[in-house]
Amino acid sequence: MKRSNIIGCGSYLPERVVTNEELAATISTTDEWITSRTGIKQRHVAAEGELTSDLALKAGERALENSGVDAASVDLLILATTTPDNTFPATGTKVQSKIGMVNGAAFDVQAVCSGFIFALSVADSFVRTGQMETVLVIGAETFSRILDWDDRSTCVLFGDGAGAVVVQAGNGDENNASEVFSGNNVGRGILSTHLHSDGKYTDLLYVDGGPSSTQSVGYVRMNGREVFRHAVVNLASVVDEALDANSLLREDIGWLVPHQANKRIIDGTGKKLGIPDSKVILTVDQHANTSAASIPLALDIAVKDGRIKRGDLLLLEAMGGGLTWGASLVRW
Ligand code: ACO
Repeated sequence: MKRSNIIGCGSYLPERVVTNEELAATISTTDEWITSRTGIKQRHVAAEGELTSDLALKAGERALENSGVDAASVDLLILATTTPDNTFPATGTKVQSKIGMVNGAAFDVQAVCSGFIFALSVADSFVRTGQMETVLVIGAETFSRILDWDDRSTCVLFGDGAGAVVVQAGNGDENNASEVFSGNNVGRGILSTHLHSDGKYTDLLYVDGGPSSTQSVGYVRMNGREVFRHAVVNLASVVDEALDANSLLREDIGWLVPHQANKRIIDGTGKKLGIPDSKVILTVDQHANTSAASIPLALDIAVKDGRIKRGDLLLLEAMGGGLTWGASLVRW
């Protein structure tokens, strides 16, 4: 069985920044309320006519460049998104064409804020079984298009953005891994992925529209308190599941790279797991909750600023509407 390596990453945020103060000028909220409840200071909002596929394309191109991989050698493109350009075709196919990918296949994965973990898991499965060699995994969202901008309980929480990684087949012992890494799992790559969903909780977080129900796009609706409660419990549990599956301990984690929904959820999960703040990548203040884009965005920011280094053990985790949740352990 092969091992999947993440060989590079990239991200893109739309130019326009909307600060908490700007929101406070249009709805009944304050910078203090948003910051203390969520840790969010600003969000990026796509320009008129700038679509999810445009964001995905830019992040995908940057990830390919960072990996030194030509688009023509990508076998599979998986786009995690809840905000596709159109109901169909899959937005991934538009990105496939624009990025210059001439072989293989492209499709979308829909698991809302857990979308990137789900897409990474699909990529890992294709690579491990030898069906695909090189996979471009992108998370991209224009959540600003499905927000009710008069609903202060949701509109302050989300933003637009995209992040991407290139996953490539390897055997896990690249770069003299045995010299560089200690612990039970020597070698680079995705050690395992763990996915969950529980459809009993669809009513906690959903969009009140869609092609089959209302023939309109709809807006995000959420029971924030209940989502919060489920998030901390489910995330801590799936992190332990990933560690157990690899005979690793919480203290072996080099960096926790969580879905950037909300600082209080991230703090709560870190505290429950006993992971110190110094080992948690936190970027939600800069871009708010970008759903499926948030993990590759946070990853890219922390790789580029030098915090995450080759050989570090990363724990990626997310929870989102569905409810869906998942985690992945990665030796960077
Ligand atoms: N500005 C000012 N006041 C607000 C705002 C706002 N933007 N939004 C809500 N309020 C008010 C409410 O109306 C309420 O007022 P009331 O007491 O007069 O009725 C008061 O603030 C308290 O509201 P709560 O909902 O109890 O506030 P809470 O402390 O639970 O914080 C929050 C709300 C931030 C949404 C929290 O529940 C949360 O973080 N939930 C997780 C939600 C989340 O992150 N979802 C993202 C998708 S899922 C995921 O990615 C994991």
